[in-house]
Amino acid sequence: MQSFTALSAQFEAKFNKRHFPEHTPTLYDPAQYILGIKGKRIRPICVYLANELFAPVTDDAYYAAASIELFHNFSLIHDDIMDKAPLRRGLPTVHEKYGHNTALLAGDVMFVTAYENLGSISAPYLPRSIEIFNKTAKEVCEGQQLDMDFENMAHVSLDDYVKMITLKTSVLVAASLQMGAVLGGAGLGNQNHLYEFGKNLGIAFQIQDDFLDAFGDAQKTGKQQGGDILANKKTFLLIHAREQGDASINARLDELLANNAPDKVPQVLQIFKEVKADEWCNALKEKYYQIALQHLDEVAVLSERKTALQQLAADLMMREK
Ligand code: IPE
Ligand code: IPE
Ligand code: MG
Ligand code: MG
Ligand code: MG
Repeated sequence: MQSFTALSAQFEAKFNKRHFPEHTPTLYDPAQYILGIKGKRIRPICVYLANELFAPVTDDAYYAAASIELFHNFSLIHDDIMDKAPLRRGLPTVHEKYGHNTALLAGDVMFVTAYENLGSISAPYLPRSIEIFNKTAKEVCEGQQLDMDFENMAHVSLDDYVKMITLKTSVLVAASLQMGAVLGGAGLGNQNHLYEFGKNLGIAFQIQDDFLDAFGDAQKTGKQQGGDILANKKTFLLIHAREQGDASINARLDELLANNAPDKVPQVLQIFKEVKADEWCNALKEKYYQIALQHLDEVAVLSERKTALQQLAADLMMREK
C-alpha cells in the first residue's frame, strides 16, 4: 500500500498538464488557470487509495480520478460565482480575474472535459462508473441549490444543514472511494462501506471547512475569511448560535444578518465565540469521524492495508487549509 504522498505524485505526473486546446485561449486559459493552482487533490487520491485496497492502481483509476478532480474544479468555479468569493487557493477566483461570463463557460467546458476522461474508462467498468458519476453530480447540484436557498431562510435546522452538506460536499468524496473500489474489483459490501466512510468523512470535512471559513487563517486557507458570514450561510456555527443564544443574541443576529454593516464579520464571530460554537465544532466533527472509521473497519481487507486511509481521515479532521 502506498502513502497519500506517493499516490499523489503518481496522479500528478499524469494530471499536471494542459487539459484544453490551445485555440480559443480566452475560454481555455481561465479553465487551465484554476487547475494550475493546485488544490489538495483529496478526491482523486481517494480513488487511488480505494482502488489500491483491492488491486494495483489501474489506468481506469486515473481516468476516474481525473474526471472527479475536473468535476470538483468545475464546481468550485461556479461555487465562487454563487458565493461571491474573491479568492481561491490564495489567488483571484476565475470570475474575479476573467469575468462572470467566462467563468460560467470555463466551468461548463471543464464539466465536459470531466466527461471525456470518464469516457476513457474501459468498457467493463464504464456503465457503473457513469452511473455513480451522474448520480453524484446531480446530488452536488441539489446540495448547492439548498445552500443558496438557505441563505434566504431565517431558520435552518442542524438536520437540514447536515443533509445539505452531505449533498454538496460529502457524496463526491464518497463516490471517489466507491469508484476506486469498483475499479479495484471490490464486492458490493466493500463498495458500500467505503461509500459510507467517505460520506461521513465528507460531512466532517465540510464542518471543518465551515469552521475554517470563520476562524481559519486566510494565509493558509487561501480564501477570504468570513465569506460565509457575509453571505448569510447557514453553517453549523450560525445554527448553534441561534439555538444556544438567548433572545438578545438572536436579536443581534437578526440585525447583523439583515444589514451588511462594515463590522458584520467581527460582530458575528464574537457571537460565535460567546456561545462557544467554535468549541462545539470538535464534538460535531468527531461524531461523523467516528461513524466514518466504523465503516472503514468493516471493509473486508487486512487492517494494515487501511493505514493510508486512516491517516488521511485523521489529517482531514485537523486540517488548516
Ligand atoms: C473545497 O474543497 C470545496 C469544499 C467542498 C469545501 P477542497 O478543500 O478539497 O478544495 P481544494 O481542491 O483542496 O482547493
Ligand atoms: C462548496 O462548499 C461545495 C462545492 C463546491 C460543491 P463551500 O462554498 O463551502 O466551498 P468553499 O469554502 O468555497 O471552498
Ligand atoms: Mg464557496
Ligand atoms: Mg458554496
Ligand atoms: Mg467553505
